[in-house]
Amino acid sequence: MGRKKFSQVVESLFLAILLCGALTQVGCFNFSSFPVETDKELILSKHSRLFLDSIQVTPDVIGENLANFSGRVFYKKPFRLWSKSKGVTASFNTTFVLRINPVTSPGGEGLAFILTADTTLPEASQGQWLGIVNATTNGSSQAEVVAVEFDTRKSYPEDLDENHVGLDVNSIYSIEQVSLTGYGVDLSSNSNVRARVEYDGKTKYIVVSISNATGELKPVISLPLNLSDHLPERVSVGFSASTGIYTELNCIRSWEFSMEDIGDENQERLWVWITVPAVVVLLLIGILVYLYLQRKRRERPEDAYPRIEDQIEGSSVGPRKFKLKDLRKATGNFNPRNKLGKGGFGTVYKGFLANKLEVAVKRVSKDSSQGKQEFIAEVTTIGSLHHKNLVKLIGWCYERRELLLVYEFMPNGSLDKFIYGDENLGMGEQNLSWEKRHIIIYGVAQALDYLHNGCAKRVLHRDIKPSNIMLDSDFNARLGDFGLARTVQQSGKTHHTTKEIAGTPGYMAPETFLVGRATVETDIYAFGVLVLEVVCGRKPGKQNEDNDYNNGIVYWLWELHKREGILDAVDPRLDGKFDEEGMKRMLVLGLACCHPNPHHRPSMKIVLQVIIGEAPLPPVPNERPAFVWPAMPPSFKQDADDVSLIGSQLSPFTQLAGR
Ligand SMILES: *[C@@H]1O[C@H](CO)[C@@H](O)[C@H](O)[C@H]1NC(C)=O
Ligand SMILES: *[C@@H]1O[C@H](CO)[C@@H](O)[C@H](O)[C@H]1NC(C)=O
Ligand SMILES: *[C@@H]1O[C@H](CO)[C@@H](O)[C@H](O)[C@H]1NC(C)=O
Ligand SMILES: *[C@@H]1O[C@H](CO)[C@@H](O)[C@H](O)[C@H]1NC(C)=O
Repeated sequence: MGRKKFSQVVESLFLAILLCGALTQVGCFNFSSFPVETDKELILSKHSRLFLDSIQVTPDVIGENLANFSGRVFYKKPFRLWSKSKGVTASFNTTFVLRINPVTSPGGEGLAFILTADTTLPEASQGQWLGIVNATTNGSSQAEVVAVEFDTRKSYPEDLDENHVGLDVNSIYSIEQVSLTGYGVDLSSNSNVRARVEYDGKTKYIVVSISNATGELKPVISLPLNLSDHLPERVSVGFSASTGIYTELNCIRSWEFSMEDIGDENQERLWVWITVPAVVVLLLIGILVYLYLQRKRRERPEDAYPRIEDQIEGSSVGPRKFKLKDLRKATGNFNPRNKLGKGGFGTVYKGFLANKLEVAVKRVSKDSSQGKQEFIAEVTTIGSLHHKNLVKLIGWCYERRELLLVYEFMPNGSLDKFIYGDENLGMGEQNLSWEKRHIIIYGVAQALDYLHNGCAKRVLHRDIKPSNIMLDSDFNARLGDFGLARTVQQSGKTHHTTKEIAGTPGYMAPETFLVGRATVETDIYAFGVLVLEVVCGRKPGKQNEDNDYNNGIVYWLWELHKREGILDAVDPRLDGKFDEEGMKRMLVLGLACCHPNPHHRPSMKIVLQVIIGEAPLPPVPNERPAFVWPAMPPSFKQDADDVSLIGSQLSPFTQLAGR
C-alpha cells in the first residue's frame, strides 16, 4: 500500500466516524409545512398520510367510511429524554399548528401530541382512545406514554367537554384537563390552532399553551410532571388521532421541536464502538505499513548500503542492472543442474538470457558480509574495465537481499581443471599443448599489465590463481573473479582500515604478512607462481598435498634451477613437445617474478616484453636469495617507471615500524 492510499484510508475512516456521530445526533427540527418528500423524516402509520402540505394523522378520504380509525405519526429519530446514570432530564420545547375539520356534527374524536418509545399504533385505539392507548393498555404503567390531548368529543363521563386540552399519563383519563372555551379557541372550527408544549427537565415542569390562528399563546396547563418516572430514557415524539362514530380530519400543518442535548450514552457507546476498533485498525495498518516499509528498506540496496548504488551507477558505461526475476528465469530459478561451480563467496550458475545470450550468474552468499564487499568491489572495479583478457561483467542485480553478478559465459571453464589432472576429464582433454599454455600465460600477463598500468585507475587483482583464470572457446585466458580486487585510489583506505590479508596460500609473496596488504609486487609474485604451475602442471602446494616437493613449487623450482636442471620440472604430459630455450626463459621468468625481494621482481611491462622476446630475462641468481626484511631496493634500478611504481606501491617502512 502506498503512502497516498494509506492516507486516503485514514481520511475515509475519520469521515465515517464523523458521519456516524452526526447521524446519531437528533438535534432540533422545524417543519414549516409537510410537502410529500418530508415523509422520509417521519414514521407514518398505515392510514396516516401527507396531503396538501399537511400531515393527515387520520385522513379525510378512506374509501367511503372515515369512522373508527386511529393513526400515529412520529419524527423518525428518537431522542434522549433522560439519563439514569447522569441523573439528568432533557428540557424540550415544541410548537405546532393543528387543524381539525369535523365531518360529522359534532366531530370526533381528537388529536394528541405524544411521547413514547413504541411508535407502533396500538390495535383498537380508535374512538375514545385517540390512538394513545387501547382498552388493554389504558391505565397501565406498561403503556409508557405521555400525551397532551386536544379532545373534540365528550366520549365518557369523566371527559370534560367537546373542546378541551388534557394531560394524559399512561391513560386516556387525563390527570389534568382544561376547557378551551374560555380561551377563545375552538378545536372543531376547521381553522389553525397553535399549541406549545414546554418541558423543563430541571424543575420537571410541563406547560401547555394554546392560541387560535391570530392570538397570542396562553398557558392553559402548567404543572409538575416527572417524565422520567413514566417514560423510558429514549423516546419518540409525534402525534396520534382517532375517529369513532363521529368523524373528522385531524391535521398537523407545521411543527417545530427543540431539545436540550444531555449527551447520549448509546451514542457515546457507539462512538466507543466505532473509534476503538477504528484506532485498532489504524494501528494495525500503521504497523503493517511500517513493517512493509522496513522490509522494503532492507531489500533496497540504496538504503542498505547508501552509497553502493551510487557508486555502481556512477561507474561510467559499465555493467547494466538486471531484474531478479529475469535472472531467476535465466538460471531456471538457480537450478542445481545449472551449477557451474562454487567459488569464493558464492555459487556460479549457467544461464540463458532472453536474447539467448549464454551467461554465468554468480550468486553471492546472502549472509556473507565479505560477500557484499566483494560484490561492490567486483561491480565497481571490473565493471569499468575493458580488456580482451578479462572476463566481461555484463551486469549485476541487488534485490531482496540477493547479490548477483552476470558474466559472459566461458565455455571451457577455469584453467585449474586443465592443468591439474581433473578426474572428471579424460587425459586428452586436460592436456594443453605448450603453444596453448604459452598463449594462456601471455594472456594473463596482458590482463595484469592492463590492470597495473593500462587502465585509468590502477587495479590490484589480489587473487591470481588458475581457478580465477577462465578459458574462452579458443582457450584464450580471461582473468576473472575480482572479488578481492582493489583500485589503488582506494588503497589509502586499505592501508589504514582494511587490514585483512587477502589472497590464497601458495600464491602469497613472503612479504605479504609483513606489509599486511596487497601491492603490485604481490600480484606479480602470484603471477610467477601461476607461470610455474602452468608449465609444470602442478599445484603450488604444500607438503600435505600430493606433490613430490616439500616446500612448495617455488622452492622446488629454485632447487632445480640451482642444479641447472630446471627443465626437469616441465609437465611430463607435454611429452617433450616444446622449444627448450623458450621453455627455459618462461621458467626463469616465473622464478624472477617469485623473487623473495619484491624490488627485484620485474614489472608486468617487462614480463610482457620478455615473453614476446623483446627484452632480456631479468637477472636471476643461481641460488634462491634469502628473504630479508626490510627488502633493500636495488641500487642498479634506473627505469623511472619502475622506481615510481615501487615507491608508490610498497608501504613505507617507517609506517611499518610505527605499528
Ligand atoms: C365503529 O365502532 C362502534 C363501536 O365499536 C360501532 O358501534 C360502529 O358500528 C362502528 N362503525 C363503523 C362504521 O364501523
Ligand atoms: C391493545 O394494543 C396491544 C398492542 O398493540 C394489543 O396487544 C392488544 O391486544 C390491544 N388490546 C385490544 C383490546 O385490542
Ligand atoms: C423523577 O423520576 C426519576 C425516575 O423514577 C427519579 O430517579 C427522580 O428522582 C425523580 N425526580 C424527582 C424530582 O422526583
Ligand atoms: C424552551 O423555551 C424557553 C422559553 O422560550 C427557553 O428559555 C428554553 O431555552 C427553551 N428550551 C429549549 C430546549 O429549546
